[in-house]
Amino acid sequence: MATDDTTYRWVKDGALGPGRMRYGADYNPEQWPREVWDEDVRLMREAGVNIVSLGIFSWALLEPRPGEWDFGWLDEVIDLLHANGIDVDLATATASPPPWLAKRHPEILPQTIDGTTLWPGSRQHWRPTSPVFREYALRLTRALAERYADHPALVAWHISNELGCHNLYDFSDDAARAFRVWLQERYTTLDALNEAWGTAFWSQHYEEWDEILPPRAAPTQRNPGQQLDFERFSSDAVRDHLRAENAVLAEVTPGIPRTTNFMVAQNVRDIDYPSWVGDVDFVSNDHYLRPGELGRDDLSFWSNLTGNIAGGRPWFLMEHAPSAVNWRAVNPPKRPGELVRDALTHVGHGADAVCYFQWRQSRAGGERYHSGMVPHAGADSRVFRDVVDLGSQLRDLAPVTGSRRERARVALVFDYESWWVSGRDSHPAESPAYDDETLLWYRALLDLGVRVDVVPVAADLADYEVVVAPMLHVVPAALRERLTAFVAGGGHLVTTYFSGVVDENDRVWLGGYPGALRDLLGITIEEFVPMLPGETASLASGTVVRDWSERIARVEPDVEVLDFYAGGDLDGAPAITRRRSAHDSGGSATYVSAAIGRPGAADVMRRLAGDIPALAADALAADGDVDVIVRRHEGGRYVFLANRTDDEVVVAAAGDLLAGAAERGSADAVMIAPRGVAVLAQEG
Ligand code: GLA
Ligand code: GLA
Repeated sequence: MATDDTTYRWVKDGALGPGRMRYGADYNPEQWPREVWDEDVRLMREAGVNIVSLGIFSWALLEPRPGEWDFGWLDEVIDLLHANGIDVDLATATASPPPWLAKRHPEILPQTIDGTTLWPGSRQHWRPTSPVFREYALRLTRALAERYADHPALVAWHISNELGCHNLYDFSDDAARAFRVWLQERYTTLDALNEAWGTAFWSQHYEEWDEILPPRAAPTQRNPGQQLDFERFSSDAVRDHLRAENAVLAEVTPGIPRTTNFMVAQNVRDIDYPSWVGDVDFVSNDHYLRPGELGRDDLSFWSNLTGNIAGGRPWFLMEHAPSAVNWRAVNPPKRPGELVRDALTHVGHGADAVCYFQWRQSRAGGERYHSGMVPHAGADSRVFRDVVDLGSQLRDLAPVTGSRRERARVALVFDYESWWVSGRDSHPAESPAYDDETLLWYRALLDLGVRVDVVPVAADLADYEVVVAPMLHVVPAALRERLTAFVAGGGHLVTTYFSGVVDENDRVWLGGYPGALRDLLGITIEEFVPMLPGETASLASGTVVRDWSERIARVEPDVEVLDFYAGGDLDGAPAITRRRSAHDSGGSATYVSAAIGRPGAADVMRRLAGDIPALAADALAADGDVDVIVRRHEGGRYVFLANRTDDEVVVAAAGDLLAGAAERGSADAVMIAPRGVAVLAQEG
């Protein structure tokens, strides 16, 4: 992770911020007749839109025939936007290659795990490792950069779009070649690779590099080490494309900041974004609300992680939806209040820009039922009225820009590789899932009113008093040492079942689970005891267990058992344990061997709070009804109080009310509307 300020021109330069909150959308004027553009800019001004992402899917119109450019229409749009005070985050337009390219070079088309070709007709039908695609994409990137280098509306480059969203896993021959090069860099020798992948198993031993393939469809269970390395390789291969476009832009327009929209979200598991931070000038992210009861907390979780991937610095919310999406099984519209709530929650977690997909809802094409800021019904609509209201609130939030996340005392670790590996096939059970488990602990902490940072596993844990690392499945030796040092230094670690089990090659640590964490926790587990659907077990405290339990066969003498299994085959066995550090530092390591759900997790935390002050409730959290999110600047803090409920919540809080669906009841009481967020400025 980059931690050096100089990599963040977002903060350093005046062009993007700070000073005013950015507000806008993906803008796709090429889908509309010319006269609509005039209405677009008029409505943008009405809403307070000051930036749009342009040209994301325009390749076929910009280069209608190989090497023939048509920039006229784009010139006109950019000039029109500029004349209306709207800046441009200009796409390199490489996300969706034109039909002629696939016709001329079908070898750019990706292949799925079973060899199926992904044909043109939607988007992102290109192999990340195709040298042919790369050449055409870089030519377009250069042409755009040269043409618009000096245009005053150009304030940022938008490299490709959601890299790897549909084409991350390509199993083609290009991918096979690039995978081998990547493996040679990682392992140097085939002996090392054979050892790492455990290829003595099922006659998988390799004698020549070119025997190695991507983990294509196979008769049965594929090699776990090979799968893990292919996941790492695929994430890196897409990042290589980012780097290639980046290099062209750096050469032609060195002064213009560059970004690409990450997808730090529950439905995109496969890209190791913390390793991409050094390749962008500012982090931007796309997030789509999960419908249903957990949606708000889920948004807060991923937005929190995004802010910490950005190192606590401001970041750019590049896309979210004004209302419904069109790609889930059921796509309800946002409920009243949610449009503003979602935007302000992201701002609390560090966003200095609030942008949507997309400006005007499409009339045709695969996304015609996806909401836009201007819906099919037109501007006289609930969504557009909310859009205008949000625009005025964002203007009031200008002072917030440039401020950073205020560090919490508690960290919740999010580890991409544990996400990938714990969800692998051929495990003791298919559930629970890593993302559900980490979200569950986040929610339990919010329920207790504890402010928490969701941090990538590489973050400096020494900054925290408590580290919660649910299902930390992959623990290489170096991570074991970091966690051990954290506890020895006085930190409190809480981890849960299926943690510490494998090393960085998905090979099991021997001697009993939780493997790498056995000594730190002082327990030995002999067997996982996953449970059948509908089965439950109980702990002595009354906590109910579903899906997963474990047989802790031994605990060291200095381990305190906080809860036992009661009844069933595990009756009387330890279920939740805590070992205090042998050092005088006062640290401890707690292990939860079962899937105990959100109330169970909250109970564990409540119990630990007895002697861990960092787990005490924040008074502003109103007994868990409010998610307290804080940004800090030199003179004070901006406190975002997000109402987690559908009822009004009253919070005793001082400070100036800057924005939000909230009112000041008295000098020290704020009334926050159902699904509202109050933004307060506090001095000191
Ligand atoms: C992604 C893409 C957009 C659009 C939205 C729809 O974020 O980047 O182009 O497809 O999804 O939700
Ligand atoms: C079959 C195979 C074995 C092994 C077992 C696992 O019996 O012959 O090699 O894979 O299944 O249950």
